[in-house]
Amino acid sequence: MNSKKRLGILTSGGDCAGLNAVISSVVKTATQKGWEVYGIHNGTDGITNKPHSFEILTVQNFSDTPWPRLSGSYLGSLNKGVKMESLEEMTKKFAVGVKELGLDAVIVVGGDGSMNIVSNYCKGSLVRVIGIPKTMDNDTPITEFSVGFQSAVQVCVNAIDSLELTARSHSRALIVEVMGRDAGHLAMHSAVAGQADVCLVPEIPYTIDGVINKLKAIKASGRNHAVIVVSEGIKTESGSLVSTKKNMVGEAVYGGISQYLCNEISSRYNEFQIRSNTLGHIQRSGVPSAFDRNLAYLYGAKAVELLEKGEDNKMVIWKNGHVDSVDLAEVVRAGTTLLNVNSDYVKAAKELGMYIGEI
Ligand code: F6P
Repeated sequence: MNSKKRLGILTSGGDCAGLNAVISSVVKTATQKGWEVYGIHNGTDGITNKPHSFEILTVQNFSDTPWPRLSGSYLGSLNKGVKMESLEEMTKKFAVGVKELGLDAVIVVGGDGSMNIVSNYCKGSLVRVIGIPKTMDNDTPITEFSVGFQSAVQVCVNAIDSLELTARSHSRALIVEVMGRDAGHLAMHSAVAGQADVCLVPEIPYTIDGVINKLKAIKASGRNHAVIVVSEGIKTESGSLVSTKKNMVGEAVYGGISQYLCNEISSRYNEFQIRSNTLGHIQRSGVPSAFDRNLAYLYGAKAVELLEKGEDNKMVIWKNGHVDSVDLAEVVRAGTTLLNVNSDYVKAAKELGMYIGEI
């Protein structure tokens, strides 16, 4: 029988920059301890489906290749918009898969949804799990930062910078829609860094007239262009979600609010030509930033350290400049973290003269 400890690692949910750095960190730290690392393919599917899909990862996978420097997931990921069997069935399959693969523990790199799913799979079973938070939405609870967020902010800021230049040339107001689902972290952090004129987030109500008043003030000041950042999760003025598609489980796929805003503003105000832009999935594949890579390496090492100390059912977190951990159950209880409307970012945006809604 193999006496080496065998650790599984998988990435789950929408991908983001920095996942490969996390995998690399886990492989390097676990290998140093003499453990064997199984890279599970396509999220939990690699464990629950038969034949199981995995590969043994060694330091060479990551030191002789550029993978840690790249976005995407080397292991593939599984998004929640896919039909699954009942929780009971999946829990059983997960436990059986973990046993058949001979895994002593599993590290799950995922967002709030994945932490929820996996902690359910592990309830009442002997499977040892550690979570590592990742998401460009930065809405995983308790931790201040999830891997992937800062890199996505950089993509958005680059886009704002580019749009500002063309807006200036054509005397236009350009709208840019960014992802984030129901949380405005990505929009607000990008708008502040890119010094947009308007930033609309799901957490703060807005009016079209408020946006128009801001555009009028810009015109009156002698400036001929503007940039408006909008989070995909904001609703129309009458409160409906703009979504043109549904995923395979019937949930709304967000996207389209920028065109709505463009039409509404243009129909009431014509001193600026308005155009809409949607950044889309390009936001998920930016160059992993130094911060995200550091987070990835620190989180990976911490996850392995926790397992070595005999701990499990925890998620590693970033709090007040330190890496720590909390119980997975606490993470699940906390749900999703939205943008705090009293945060320094929101305060600064307002003080800098940005229109951020009726606050
Ligand atoms: O949760 C991450 C995220 O990128 C959201 O910001 C976005 O709404 C969603 O995933 C897009 O999902 P999909 O890849 O299924 O289109």
